[in-house]
Amino acid sequence: MATGERFGYLADGMRTIAIISSKGGSGKTTLTLHLALAAFAEGARVVIADVDGQRSVGQSLRARQSPGPGLVETTVGKLFTLRVTAEREGCDYVFIDTPNAPDRDLVTAIGVADLCVLVGRPTFFDITAAARAAAAVRRLGKPGLIVLNQAPPKRMGVESSAVSRAAEALRLTGLPLAPYGLRSRTVYQLCVAHGLSAAEYQAAGAGAAEVGLLWRHVRDLAAALPVAGPARAARAADAS
Ligand SMILES: Nc1ncnc2c1ncn2[C@@H]1O[C@H](COP(=O)(O)OP(=O)(O)O)[C@@H](O)[C@H]1O
Ligand SMILES: [Mg+2]
Repeated sequence: MATGERFGYLADGMRTIAIISSKGGSGKTTLTLHLALAAFAEGARVVIADVDGQRSVGQSLRARQSPGPGLVETTVGKLFTLRVTAEREGCDYVFIDTPNAPDRDLVTAIGVADLCVLVGRPTFFDITAAARAAAAVRRLGKPGLIVLNQAPPKRMGVESSAVSRAAEALRLTGLPLAPYGLRSRTVYQLCVAHGLSAAEYQAAGAGAAEVGLLWRHVRDLAAALPVAGPARAARAADAS
């Protein structure tokens, strides 16, 4: 059965989503795991390609007691081949967890991706790193989205000045800022130790809710993108 027949929104093939920041600790692995686990929970066929030598995704997923996304621990040089193989095998999503450096690895990962999700905390260093990554994404002509991570919670419904300033600065990158981000929450530190998402760890929690909103936004954005893959080529051939 074709991917699109099962999920509708993926009518023209697999999507490859790279999670990017050249700054360590910005939340790449946390976000990769959460997006991948959210897609998996919907019934999608998901592979995480971990090209970071720290292998943090595996450290988390190996603690998981139930089925989960596939994991390939690899190098950026093998990403193109992995993408082709994953699509041929009927995969719906490949999520790439990227390392902090070097920049040429970042460029390769961006080149493989259909969508680049940049992640950063509302801090000076993370915003500078996000701006650099955004410039690379734009130079390569790839669609991108910035997700704010570890934002402090709102106080009496009001966003902190750090978040407002970060949002303003990130708008200058020319890439859209996701309408939903991940707040600073202990649940994100606890759940990954069990290979679980915040939603699986604490279904009624605020983390589960915000990740759900973010995933739906990313999913719909990715689904609307034109992709060039074997499934799309096959569809085009069927239609002609
Ligand atoms: N939204 C969040 N709230 C609380 N802690 C977080 C959040 N996002 C990430 N962390 C913690 O910050 C640290 C770095 O996150 P990680 O995802 O490993 O970043 P990166 O992969 O970019 O180096 C980890 O200890 C992680 O648990
Ligand atoms: Mg990481």
